[in-house]
Amino acid sequence: MAGIYLHIPFCKKACHYCDFHFSTSPAYKDQMVKALRSELILRKPYLGNELIETIYFGGGTPSVLSVDDLSMLIHTITENYEVSASAEITLEANPDDLIPQKVKEFRQTPVNRFSIGIQSFFEEDLKWMNRAHNASEGLSSIKRVQDAGFENITADLIYGYPLLSDEKWMFNIRELIDLQIPHISSYSMTVEPATALASFIQKGKQKAMDEGQSARQFEILMDELQGADFEHYEISNFAKPGSRSKHNSNYWEGVNYMGIGPSAHSFNGDSRQWNVADNMKYIQSMEQNKVPFEIEHLTTENRINEYIMTALRTSKGIDLSFVSQRYHSDYSLQIRNSLEPFLDKEWAILTNQTVTLSKQGKLFADHIASELFVELL
Ligand SMILES: C[S@@+](CC[C@H](N)C(=O)[O-])C[C@H]1O[C@@H](n2cnc3c(N)ncnc32)[C@H](O)[C@@H]1O
Ligand code: SF4
Repeated sequence: MAGIYLHIPFCKKACHYCDFHFSTSPAYKDQMVKALRSELILRKPYLGNELIETIYFGGGTPSVLSVDDLSMLIHTITENYEVSASAEITLEANPDDLIPQKVKEFRQTPVNRFSIGIQSFFEEDLKWMNRAHNASEGLSSIKRVQDAGFENITADLIYGYPLLSDEKWMFNIRELIDLQIPHISSYSMTVEPATALASFIQKGKQKAMDEGQSARQFEILMDELQGADFEHYEISNFAKPGSRSKHNSNYWEGVNYMGIGPSAHSFNGDSRQWNVADNMKYIQSMEQNKVPFEIEHLTTENRINEYIMTALRTSKGIDLSFVSQRYHSDYSLQIRNSLEPFLDKEWAILTNQTVTLSKQGKLFADHIASELFVELL
């Protein structure tokens, strides 16, 4: 079982907060699609003969691809890899791309899951973020995708930024609940270096993010979605029963995946590798049939600590007996010892051999995980 991720590095506008890899110039789109196709063919041996259970078009903005290019890429995968008949195939889409004709055409492709970047239903928020879509496009894009017959839909919302009052935040969440969206991913606004947002804050043109507001709005998110029967299955992800993201769940479970395209990461159990985050360098290298990547081989310590970081963020939690069996009981003992202060504060819960986070602990997930990291024996 494995997954394939394709990074589509183009966006119509640069959102002020975003440091993902993308270009706002579509000039080399055709060459990029060709290069992605070449990488898919060239890297066939990477996943051995593993069955592909999930395909994920992420970005950037995959919905800027023409339906022909998208179909060609999917066809290249099915021609060269063994793809499960029930594979989850997700396309990240921005609302302004989901115009009636294109949604109709997407229905003719094997794409069966949409991830729509809503972020907020308020006009002033979208302008502040420098999004390419407006509030009414956000709403109509969801309805259009639903009307076309897509049921497996997730929407992204951001919280914790100065314009977002608790009332507005509650409205955004309830709007998605009312629309009967079965999956929601929601992130606290982070100020990444080298973004327009960071520069505005540094120049005093913009208020810094308020940690208290972010924590409060995360709690509102948990309460509202729990009340609407969503499972909080990962810190930033909520799903109605049966609607969890297979692709992301596989990442968190350590399933192998291959990332195609500039900046894309891959993992095969022994190593992580990542492609160059530069469109021109990527295209030129692929024209020579060479994948431009760097690689890191994982030590036992790396593997356990990655497991701690991802597993603690999920509702499954850290399985100490798994750590003992797979690695060494001294590692689970190290984790158990570091856990003590968090059990005392009731931020972590230990049930049999499984460590999960309490509601309060979820506010500090990454900090707690880093405190549980093990050192090499
Ligand atoms: C990188 S985008 C790709 C999908 C699509 N282009 C979109 O904008 O929704 C994936 C998610 O990351 C979120 N994101 C990117 N930078 C962020 C930041 N600094 N803080 C919080 N969320 C962020 C986006 O808003 C979006 O929901
Ligand atoms: S948030 Fe999405 S649309 Fe905005 S710049 Fe980042 S990748 Fe592009």
